[in-house]
Amino acid sequence: MTQERTLILVKPDAMQRALAGEVISRYERRGLKIVGMKLMRIDRETAERHYGEHREKSFFPGLVTYITSSPVIAAVLEGPNAIDAVRATNGATNPIEATPGSLRADFGLEKGRNLVHASDSAESAVREVALFFDEKELVAWPRDADAWIFE
Ligand code: RTP
Ligand code: MG
Repeated sequence: MTQERTLILVKPDAMQRALAGEVISRYERRGLKIVGMKLMRIDRETAERHYGEHREKSFFPGLVTYITSSPVIAAVLEGPNAIDAVRATNGATNPIEATPGSLRADFGLEKGRNLVHASDSAESAVREVALFFDEKELVAWPRDADAWIFE
């Protein structure tokens, strides 16, 4: 099992619909550990850096306006294959194409209001975790913490 870390954002639409607890509980129930978490309003510069790969896309200005439009929860989750596990829990970018039982299928209808973000690769995860968290904000769990979750 490869232990990985990934960055998630509970996006403004999920926050405004009071779905933050539902979203986070899905990750917890899968067995992922929360190693960092904060409530924040993303500033424009951070949003543009976070979504830098989409800078030339037509949806970029709207995406930046949306992600900066209200408080979000940013968190770092850790666990076996955490990057792919969280992407699967989130579902496809377009909620209409998302697997039933995923967050986006269960709570979304529109690509531009798809509730959650998650890092899409090991490289993205390193970059995004560093963008949102200082190393000292990430909290170590006890060595036997897996036993609490999986026993
Ligand atoms: P995310 O980065 O937010 O986890 O989502 P993702 O990997 O599934 O999707 P990505 O291709 O990285 O796109 C980032 C976000 O941009 C919005 N989007 N809108 N209107 C459109 O055609 C469109 N395409 C993408 C979505 O909010 C998507 O999550
Ligand atoms: Mg993405």
